[in-house]
Amino acid sequence: VRHFITGAELTPGELSQLLDRAAQLKEAPASSRALAGKSVAMIFEKPSTRTRVSFEVGIVELGGHPVVLRSDEMQISRGESIRDVALVLSRHVAGIGMRTGSDDTLAELSHWAQVPVFNMLSPSHHPVQVLADLQTMRETFGDIRGRVLAYVGDGNNMARSLAIVGALAGVEVRIASPPEFTLEESASATLFTDPFEAVRGADVVYTDVWVSMSDDAATAAARRAALGPYAVTDELMAAAGPGAVPFHCLPAHPGEEVSESVLYGERQRAWDQAENRRHAQKALLELLLG
Ligand code: CP
Repeated sequence: VRHFITGAELTPGELSQLLDRAAQLKEAPASSRALAGKSVAMIFEKPSTRTRVSFEVGIVELGGHPVVLRSDEMQISRGESIRDVALVLSRHVAGIGMRTGSDDTLAELSHWAQVPVFNMLSPSHHPVQVLADLQTMRETFGDIRGRVLAYVGDGNNMARSLAIVGALAGVEVRIASPPEFTLEESASATLFTDPFEAVRGADVVYTDVWVSMSDDAATAAARRAALGPYAVTDELMAAAGPGAVPFHCLPAHPGEEVSESVLYGERQRAWDQAENRRHAQKALLELLLG
């Protein structure tokens, strides 16, 4: 049983082939019936727009049947163990996705499941988003090996997944954050505190919200104060250089981590990233479950 929790489960070669396949599936969305006769469960403990729609539509396009489960409507909410959920779902479905507020829950699910488990966002990782981001980079630049992606903002799950999965694709990942919200030292990303230094010569300037779903609401004001200088504005994009494009995984808070002019500007690729969620995830599901 093969799971997809951090993205590091893929080899560089598999990731490259997955991105090739994602491009083929974008060209011909109805060309694969890899999930014909199979059902896929998706458990959501947290809200979602892109992840839910892109997986649900993608599974249907692959000929499969998506079973979307809100955890507050499941027996988990009345104390049923994740172990029992994993054992029961494994008798019905070919794969289980989960969006959770606990990395331990995801580890428990993947430990007991007898079918592949894929991470649809956890406090520490969001690898399916990065698959779409890399597909979008390929569409923008062609060969992405050696390209520079500068992530500016909170050192959160997105930053960590970009560091892990971006490195597998040969992308140079830089992370610029205030010291109190920085990512842990990682061999696969270079850490900065100065956003202008981080974006110099970058091909992609990437940002995410400053207060994530897993963050304690009590820290929101402190986060916004510390992250204020890390907003992606026209001034920061100018520092990156004329060839740089802004990325955002969405949802966005225009006027906070990204200016309206950057978010809705001609160079913004967030809308392609959002579409590519479906194509890249279909390629992942083919690999894990097909
Ligand atoms: N980017 C992302 O995962 O979006 P949702 O939270 O809407 O799924």
